[in-house]
Amino acid sequence: MVQTICVCGAGTMGSSIAQAASQHQFHVILYDVNTGMLAKAKAGMQSNLQSLVQKNKITAETSADILSRIQFVSDINDCLADLIIEAIVEKPEVKVALFNQLAEVNHSETVLATNTSSLSVTEIAKKVKHPERVAGMHFFNPATIMKLVEVVKTPFSNEQTIDAIVQTARQMDKTPVLCEDSPGFIVNHVARPYYLEALKLAEQGVTDFQTIDTLLEATGFKMGPFRLMDLIGNDINYAVSCQVYEALGKPERLQPSPIQKEKVENGHLGRKTGKGYYEY
Ligand SMILES: NC(=O)c1ccc[n+]([C@@H]2O[C@H](COP(=O)([O-])OP(=O)(O)OC[C@H]3O[C@@H](n4cnc5c(N)ncnc54)[C@H](O)[C@@H]3O)[C@@H](O)[C@H]2O)c1
Repeated sequence: MVQTICVCGAGTMGSSIAQAASQHQFHVILYDVNTGMLAKAKAGMQSNLQSLVQKNKITAETSADILSRIQFVSDINDCLADLIIEAIVEKPEVKVALFNQLAEVNHSETVLATNTSSLSVTEIAKKVKHPERVAGMHFFNPATIMKLVEVVKTPFSNEQTIDAIVQTARQMDKTPVLCEDSPGFIVNHVARPYYLEALKLAEQGVTDFQTIDTLLEATGFKMGPFRLMDLIGNDINYAVSCQVYEALGKPERLQPSPIQKEKVENGHLGRKTGKGYYEY
């Protein structure tokens, strides 16, 4: 049974997954190589929790409890847990190296879950010493609010691994959905045209990005594509587009956008850098 969760990567997703897990009584270790990101994650959680207190959704005592259950660490030897959820940079070799290091530190049953949005979980698992303990646990942004978790099984994942992930997701009040390890899984595959067609319209000068967002939001979408890409992070969203495009044999309709590539090259990643399509 999972009691302690180690979340690796204290960025957009890691900090939100850590808070969500602590809000559901898990002991949480939040690990990042960058201590500045750990400090930023802690400050972000304090501010989120403070706003929940102000809205009378939780008490000040609950808010303090949630924070006290999270340990912020930058030493991998402190990452001892029943379940690891990695939410680090979207590069397969870095994720594999991290899992192999964590497998050394942890006990033989520790589950190694990846929050990757687009990489092949099977390819990651193949290179990890314990492929049977690897699976995908794909949260949506922000993980404190979004209910869906895609659980990605590989041909190597054993039953205990999938059961532990599904059970933990349920305990976090999420809705786990089992899916195949196919490019973009389900949601990111279906959502690709939402971003890419909007980018094409802006690229061709048909209209500007603010108008596209305003119109789509007026039709009922919670967030227009550009506002959403800024929330996700343009680096992550672009990496997903490239990954899905390559994995599906480079179909013309899914070609990644030069506008987004330029945003990434200029460091205009969205909310996390203070500037993307919009300024924050
Ligand atoms: N952003 C989203 O909306 C979203 C949604 C679902 C899944 N994801 C996935 O989650 C993962 C993280 O995305 P993000 O948007 O949170 O990224 P991010 O850039 O906001 O954060 C990544 C963090 O990982 C840390 N890091 C990098 N290498 C590390 C290592 N070797 N060990 C420990 N920490 C390391 C960085 O310091 C940074 O704090 C990616 O795999 C992405 O595909 C992202």
